[in-house]
Amino acid sequence: MTLLIANAEKALNEKQDQLNIRWYPRYHLAPRAGWMNDPNGLVWFDGWYHAFYQHHPYSPEWGPMHWGHARSRDMLHWEHLPVALAPVGPEDKDGCFSGSAVVNADELSLIYTGHKFHGDLSSDDNLYQVQCLATSKNGIEFARHGTVIDTPAGLHHFRDPKVWQEGEAWYMVVGARVGDTGQVRLYRSECLRSWQAEGVLAEADEKMGFMWECPDLFTLNGKQILMFSPQGMAAQGYENRNLFQSGYLVGQWQPGAPFVQQSAFREMDHGHDFYAPQSFLAPDGRRIVLGWMAMWGSPMPEQQDGWSGMLTLPRELTLTADNRLQMRPVRELENLRQHWFSWPVSTLSNKMLPVMNHCETTEVILQFELAACDAEQYGIALEDGMRLYVDNQAQRLVLERNYPEFGLCGQRSIPLPASATLKLRVFFDSSSVEVFVNDGEACLSSRIYPQSRMLSLFAWSGRAEFTECGAWHLE
Ligand code: FRU
Repeated sequence: MTLLIANAEKALNEKQDQLNIRWYPRYHLAPRAGWMNDPNGLVWFDGWYHAFYQHHPYSPEWGPMHWGHARSRDMLHWEHLPVALAPVGPEDKDGCFSGSAVVNADELSLIYTGHKFHGDLSSDDNLYQVQCLATSKNGIEFARHGTVIDTPAGLHHFRDPKVWQEGEAWYMVVGARVGDTGQVRLYRSECLRSWQAEGVLAEADEKMGFMWECPDLFTLNGKQILMFSPQGMAAQGYENRNLFQSGYLVGQWQPGAPFVQQSAFREMDHGHDFYAPQSFLAPDGRRIVLGWMAMWGSPMPEQQDGWSGMLTLPRELTLTADNRLQMRPVRELENLRQHWFSWPVSTLSNKMLPVMNHCETTEVILQFELAACDAEQYGIALEDGMRLYVDNQAQRLVLERNYPEFGLCGQRSIPLPASATLKLRVFFDSSSVEVFVNDGEACLSSRIYPQSRMLSLFAWSGRAEFTECGAWHLE
């Protein structure tokens, strides 16, 4: 264990007992203490799911990045492990930035960005980002092998390597910024240690941002999905409302050929808090994605409690015939279900009806036949802080939060699905809500900060008919 990792462990051990856990997640991964951002190095190795993450162990603010580490048998019960990487330098002296993990024979390899300034930290002209390698036999302690790809001439922002195997070769996509254009660059290797540049795989047009962070390329249904997190896309109507976006392009790619784009950029999640998603393959072949459930530039009230940031639920990805990604919570979540509370409500008219007085680790299921509901607004509310409802006049499904005391007020919304039925699965944890619409058609994820936890159904200016309505208490 390096000195820096030992120091980080000491700080975490001291701080984790002092957390205020009122908003600490019960079935999502969050840091033991301190700060978390992107999921990194998601991988199945040695019988465990491993999740690494961007981590600042010393405070609940972003700072010199380390890699936090946890493992799980089911992606829901997490065991914390020692910090995996610390910015020991010289190649990563100012931070071990995001990256990925692959299993190479009997070794677990982490490929990450070394972040360093040559001189004054305040200027991007002094910034250099390089791709680095670290390996481990036991999946817990990592040997560092230094830089494997240097910063290409003329670049400064060059980060977030995602590596995968294709036949005999390893491939890597890396996010880059050239002037004010976001790019994904491609590399190829036989051994993970030396890499050949294969050019630019995709790049932004004038509307698609100045930097593409956290790229990921994977196959579903014989097509290739390029998922990434662009910085600098302008908000447009209901789209791109967060400071930065996360989304995907669908296309065709094979080794040696260019990426042929077949669909326009689409956002993955329409809530307030979803960024830097990374995917990986489960041993049974499922493509699973986790994102950071927070947003750059947004207030993070849990910082006053000694921690900050959490990951989303693991979600299984599928692709529809018309090139839309669908996200469904992994089936392992059903094992957390304990008791089902059926709410005895079929019709609600101009009324608010309390249905549960402590909504914390709860999966709510609601179903409506849209044509039978004429209320202008109907749905569920968590006290007066969060509402999820159909806005019948606007024909949208709205997720609204109202925490003026923390500077967090506002709505995210999606058009109502074209189908006759609207089915919602809504996962609450201590400070999060994740809404899955019509079995994967859309998803909205947001952080919430309830002081009390009464859940109510409501229907205003008319009538709502519930064809299914109740909740699972989760373990
Ligand atoms: C995305 C990101 C990455 C970077 C990391 C730094 O949220 O900005 O591009 O590697 O966070 O913590």
